[in-house]
Amino acid sequence: MRMYDIIMKKRNGGELSDDEIRFFVDGYTRGEIPDYQVSALMMAVFFQKMSKAETHALTMAMAHSGEMLDLSAIRGVKVDKHSTGGVGDKTSLALTPMVAACGVPVAKMSGRGLGHTGGTIDKLESFPGFSTAISKDRFIAQVNDIGIAIMGQTAQLAPADKKLYALRDVTATVDDLSLIASSIMSKKLAAGADAIVLDVKTGSGAFMKKEEDALALAREMVDIGTAAGRRTVAVISDMDQPLGRAVGNALEVKEAIATLNGQGPEDFTELCLTLGSRMLLVGEKAESVESARERLKQVISDGSALKKLAEFVGAQGGDREAVYHPELLPAASVVRPVVACRSGYVQHIACDEIGICSLILGGGRETKESAIDLAVGLILEKKVGDHVEEGEPLAYLHANDEDKCAAAGERFLQAYTIGDEQPGRDERGIIKGVI
Ligand code: URA
Repeated sequence: MRMYDIIMKKRNGGELSDDEIRFFVDGYTRGEIPDYQVSALMMAVFFQKMSKAETHALTMAMAHSGEMLDLSAIRGVKVDKHSTGGVGDKTSLALTPMVAACGVPVAKMSGRGLGHTGGTIDKLESFPGFSTAISKDRFIAQVNDIGIAIMGQTAQLAPADKKLYALRDVTATVDDLSLIASSIMSKKLAAGADAIVLDVKTGSGAFMKKEEDALALAREMVDIGTAAGRRTVAVISDMDQPLGRAVGNALEVKEAIATLNGQGPEDFTELCLTLGSRMLLVGEKAESVESARERLKQVISDGSALKKLAEFVGAQGGDREAVYHPELLPAASVVRPVVACRSGYVQHIACDEIGICSLILGGGRETKESAIDLAVGLILEKKVGDHVEEGEPLAYLHANDEDKCAAAGERFLQAYTIGDEQPGRDERGIIKGVI
């Protein structure tokens, strides 16, 4: 078999066999097939698409490209959660301690930022000393001990996805249904949880811009998980504007902490309650969505979810004091308002552009090797439907570099559409559906 023929077949719209998929996945993982050939194949997949059979084969080949974790040493139904990625998506930071405080063992594997979206590991590293590079034994022991652990994708876990994910990030081949579904599900299957709750984003800040595409992605992933014997649920949620108000690593950590203190933004709190109630249901810790929501609200109001976050941060080497004193988290040297050029209603926000503003400020990666600035980002003052007066701040940029701040400010203004009419509201709010 030759990689050249596989690229050519896909470029011409052919369907790859299981053997051909395994050939390129295994060859790339072993370093025998170079980045440039796999980049060409990814672009061919992007334009020609993959069938359901190809997507399933790609998922299994990537899941089996390394170790398949055995979590049977952890008591109870282990639940993992994954988001398809968005802007200001700090959900795992608040949700996982909430769910763990309700008794569901959270054994989660997280990733870093991708494209214009952030990643949980980068955010968690805002806690000085925090590390997700923990061994399998420590991961298992910690879940048994305190009910929650988050690890990064190790070199042994779905290594094919690890390489492909980084390559896709810099070759404009992220936003394809099959590539996203196989990337997420290969990691989730290899990470060994019994149940998986997926947060599939839709809108201008998501990889799936259209709701119908997000639904198709959700169905594909639920099918893959179910076929592999894992209880899999997907929630489709809005990403047509940033989630909450904070975008940027440490700023999002602060917003997640505020949410665990009962002072979170409404949309973000609702998303945590919806995903959390599904996690409690598949984790067999609640009988109904209603009772699960009540339980989750209780662990916020009695402080046990916040305490769980502190325990978790401390267990993974982070400064747990920062949970109670967020001023200990990284902070930017410059904070500047971006003001509205006219009065009116915010009609639309190009959400991915807001993610790019954070990237320009230094909060994301331009290349695989870039270092990121955890302190920078932005806090939105106005969201869709809000009224704004000319000269009023739309957001505050947090920066460590004046030039980057100016560039991000210009780009930010282009992302907002302000008009005379107040836009209509989608009565469904942030949750568009559950599968
Ligand atoms: N998240 C992933 O893990 N993989 C993708 O391809 C996109 C989002």
